Amino acid sequence: MTYEVGYVVGSLSRGSINRRLAGALAGLAPQDLRFTEIPIRDLPLYDHDLDQDFPSAARELKRAIEGSDALLFVTPEYNRSIPGALKNAIDWATRPWGSNSLDGKPAAVIGASPGLISTAVAQHHLKSILSFTNSPVLGQPEAYIRYTDGLITDNGKVTDEGTEAFLRRYLEAFHTHISTFARSHTWT
Ligand code: FNR
Repeated sequence: MTYEVGYVVGSLSRGSINRRLAGALAGLAPQDLRFTEIPIRDLPLYDHDLDQDFPSAARELKRAIEGSDALLFVTPEYNRSIPGALKNAIDWATRPWGSNSLDGKPAAVIGASPGLISTAVAQHHLKSILSFTNSPVLGQPEAYIRYTDGLITDNGKVTDEGTEAFLRRYLEAFHTHISTFARSHTWT
């Protein structure tokens, strides 16, 4: 069975190392995980006053999430939390009240940073948010990628064998997480 995985990159930066990581993951994924980016760049700031008249970028976001079997968040850490752009996207996705597009959606979190503890703190914040949105999150393995220059080439090849092997194991665990959830839940 093929699963549609929507991935969200938490960085808006053109040269984002997390976008590079997302590209590498798409290339390493088992054949029956199909990766498509869910863009967040064009979303305005969330405004509760627009709940009855959602902007088109927010409607498109919700449609893309609802059409995905699972979500993968690939995000940097900003000031020991998640980037505002990502939080903004999650806020749109959960509204209007009673129409939470993240409800029941299996998810996984991963992120890269040059820092010593990588994106650990941001990931824990994000997992806490995803718990509230009722999105079952992959627990293990945790994936804190410490980025060094050249780790992933321009065309998405991982140059370190150990990292590549780890990412493959991570994707296999995500695959199992999605299929386990798919057996016991129905979502729209
Ligand atoms: C950072 N960076 C950073 N790194 C980290 O490990 N922990 C942190 O809390 C922060 N905080 C932070 C705040 C802001 C506003 C910026 C711009 C950067 C550094 C960050 O890891 C680095 O810029 C990465 O390259 C960001 O990922 P992308 O955008 O390249 O995917």
